[in-house]
Amino acid sequence: MSNASDSQTPPPASFRAGDPVVIIDRKGRKYLRILAEGKTFNLRGGLLSAGDLIGRLPGCRLQTSIGETITVHLAALDEYVLLMPRGATVIPPKDIAFIVHWGDIGPGHLVVEAGAGSGALTLGLLRAVGPEGKVISFEVREDFAGRALKNIAAWPEKLAGRLELRLGDVREGLAGLASVDRLALDVPEPWEVLPAATQALRPGAILIAYVPTIRQIDRLTLSLLDRPEFSPPEVAELICRPWVADRTRLRPYLVIPGHSGFILRARRVQPSQPNEPLLQQK
Ligand SMILES: C[S@@+](CC[C@H](N)C(=O)[O-])C[C@H]1O[C@@H](n2cnc3c(N)ncnc32)[C@H](O)[C@@H]1O
Repeated sequence: MSNASDSQTPPPASFRAGDPVVIIDRKGRKYLRILAEGKTFNLRGGLLSAGDLIGRLPGCRLQTSIGETITVHLAALDEYVLLMPRGATVIPPKDIAFIVHWGDIGPGHLVVEAGAGSGALTLGLLRAVGPEGKVISFEVREDFAGRALKNIAAWPEKLAGRLELRLGDVREGLAGLASVDRLALDVPEPWEVLPAATQALRPGAILIAYVPTIRQIDRLTLSLLDRPEFSPPEVAELICRPWVADRTRLRPYLVIPGHSGFILRARRVQPSQPNEPLLQQK
């Protein structure tokens, strides 16, 4: 399954139907919505017509039906990921940002991902690889694959031209691939992917895996330590504490998300070579 939309389209200058927007009220509360002709948004009792926003520039200020002033922006990618419809659970934006950086995912890379799920990580990967790069994403469930494609197509940057979404099991799909630069796994049993990953990843390539439980990260770590084709893995967990920041309060929120997942990184290493003879000293 693939989608060949142009990946070069710049973000629109003014709001269009289909755009994801963030509406901010006078108390700084955010409402994430998708613009559609004929739709009315209810913001705690204040009504706002989506049609009144279409054609306006991002950053515009308007009043709702109860006279409250609101500001409207194009949603940022992290906001969109939380707003977009889900099939599978998405990786939260704080972890996506880290995965992209820790995985050293950059322009021109060939990245393989599994599973596509709702397409949240896929969007981050697609952005990072740039117009010269490519993401091949495997997903076993047709309904999730369809959802991911829709979410990716609806993001205004139009990144789908860099994506090849393949319906199927990554363990089989990787077998037909070679010289892969990066592998990003968010599947329940990533250790089962290691044999196929070993042959598909080029030496120096990076494997990144995301798993929610200690049992999974333990098993994956041990599996990698048993494989000389990979460097010893590094494991991280990110705790993000958002703060309330207004004129009277500057402190962490009272309720914050506890745990999301563990992130693992390992490099594909060169097959072991006999040591080069030392240079003889004169
Ligand atoms: C937690 S979700 C991925 C969410 C995704 N990373 C996101 O941020 O939207 C895990 C997905 O992996 C898929 N999956 C599980 N095993 C797989 C396999 N062996 N190959 C391909 N996809 C697989 C599942 O169907 C599910 O959609």
